[in-house]
Amino acid sequence: MDCAWVRIFGLLLAMAAKAKSQNAIIDPIKDALFLHNFIQTNNTLQDCVFRPYNVKEMCPDPDIRYVLYTNGEKQVYSHTQTDWLRQSIWDPLKEDMLLVHGYAGGDDTLPINVLRDAYIRNGSYNTWVLDWGALGEAPCYRAAVNNMRAVARCTGDFLTILRTAGLPTEKLTCVGHSLGAHICGLISKYVLFRMHRIVALDPARPLITNQVKLNSGDAAAVHVLHTNAGHYGEGGRGGHVDFCINGGRIQPYCENGDIDAQLCSHIWAICYMAESLVPHLQKKAEPCARRCPSGPRPGNRVGIPMMMGQSTPLTAAGSYCIHDKEPPYCPKKAGHIGDSRCCLKPPESPPPARRFWG
Ligand SMILES: *[C@@H]1O[C@H](CO)[C@@H](O)[C@H](O)[C@H]1NC(C)=O
Ligand SMILES: *[C@@H]1O[C@H](CO)[C@@H](O)[C@H](O)[C@H]1NC(C)=O
Repeated sequence: MDCAWVRIFGLLLAMAAKAKSQNAIIDPIKDALFLHNFIQTNNTLQDCVFRPYNVKEMCPDPDIRYVLYTNGEKQVYSHTQTDWLRQSIWDPLKEDMLLVHGYAGGDDTLPINVLRDAYIRNGSYNTWVLDWGALGEAPCYRAAVNNMRAVARCTGDFLTILRTAGLPTEKLTCVGHSLGAHICGLISKYVLFRMHRIVALDPARPLITNQVKLNSGDAAAVHVLHTNAGHYGEGGRGGHVDFCINGGRIQPYCENGDIDAQLCSHIWAICYMAESLVPHLQKKAEPCARRCPSGPRPGNRVGIPMMMGQSTPLTAAGSYCIHDKEPPYCPKKAGHIGDSRCCLKPPESPPPARRFWG
């Protein structure tokens, strides 16, 4: 039976079993490195690829791909084809979104493909996926962190080429999960234009130094969703707007069950963003204490609630808190909108299998 939730649920179960057998790993760096135990790979640490980041000539990098999804079609960017954009499926009438996965990711890997599919389903965007999977493979977390700058440099070149070809980069949004969020920030160091907007989905914490860390100077608007702050995710404020989901540290629906609650909380940031692409599902957060999520338990302040995710206004600022008991973007019933890969248990009756790419 090809049921997506079974796959992710199985993955999470395998992770939990592994965590238990290793006597509950508590160091998040080790934990991140151990992630490879939960992902099927035959690689060893000797296979890790370390790219230098200060060599301009290394772009384009054959290990970095850009995949475009728009109007029901898919196309991979070709560096060799001049005037690629004009001949491509790119739709100049649509806003451009660049999605960047984290460690052990790729164009068609969980969890970023949940978000990709949500954008495809929404249909209002040119959805680009930056696939740097070959430079961030398990078990090479250290290499992945090291390679972020090389990926950002080459992506800066790529965006500059597209800009010259007519893509309005001044309206482009970079959405990054985990290490991908820092890559969005680093791209700003390699382009001559100002980055428009970055949406950071629980930006990664392990081994992230100030040199590579996302900060609010990296784009005109930096919006951060915190779901596992202090463990896999950065603690403290990182953007113009910080959303502290259920306190920003651990998600309640990740705690009931035989799964790794930290990793689950870190991953489910994706589902909040996906949810914000469905008008009747998108959520509002309440203004709350400035130091959220690293500060004391936030007391709600009086103020205007803020739309979280895709529709957060570019002029917004401050910390916003939201409390949410159920996993986001999980269809409540068969046939409801959402993605069953965002559920922690199967819906009441399984929805019809839907497949996009892969
Ligand atoms: C790992 O190696 C084994 C034996 O060579 C092979 O059967 C398996 O498919 C490989 N797994 C992956 C994920 O590449
Ligand atoms: C796509 O998402 C945006 C942002 O939430 C929303 O305004 C728009 O209505 C959505 N489109 C569809 C067809 O759901």
